[in-house]
Amino acid sequence: MAILPILKYPDARLRNISSPIVTFDEALASLDQDMRETMLNAPGSGLAAPQVNRLLRIIVIDDSAPDEDYGSRVLTLVNPKIVNAAGELVYREGCLSVLDLQAEVRRAEEVTVEAQDIAGQNFTITAKGRKAVILQHEIDHLDGVLFVDRVSRLIKDMYLKKRRKFQKQAQNS
Ligand code: NI
Repeated sequence: MAILPILKYPDARLRNISSPIVTFDEALASLDQDMRETMLNAPGSGLAAPQVNRLLRIIVIDDSAPDEDYGSRVLTLVNPKIVNAAGELVYREGCLSVLDLQAEVRRAEEVTVEAQDIAGQNFTITAKGRKAVILQHEIDHLDGVLFVDRVSRLIKDMYLKKRRKFQKQAQNS
């Protein structure tokens, strides 16, 4: 197992579309383990493969119940697809690829997702609230979409300016 480096916005590689997974082999199981370790180490609520520079449709999410410790349950979804979305909620989101920003995003309140597990078995889950938000956020990553794309233009522009300034300072020091 290994902790993988996480790409940071505005890295252009976060904008690529990930490919469906067709081979359920040792390499995939190993990527799953590394992604779990990377997410828990961060720590984060979810992680998508393109964030660790692998353009594959696999995500991991913290699936612990509210009364359980963080990370006591992690769920892997391969080739996840939202097949139903209902309701609306506004939730404060952050992202391991977007440093120092939390912002409110409007999402569906409930989603049904079809996916495969690491062995290629199909399953369907329906989630509400926080878990529904995490699923939508991570599935977005597979299509090169970041939560900053879903916040107001003003917040996005201010944030981008701040990041570029910070990167310049880091380069000059
Ligand atoms: Ni994210």
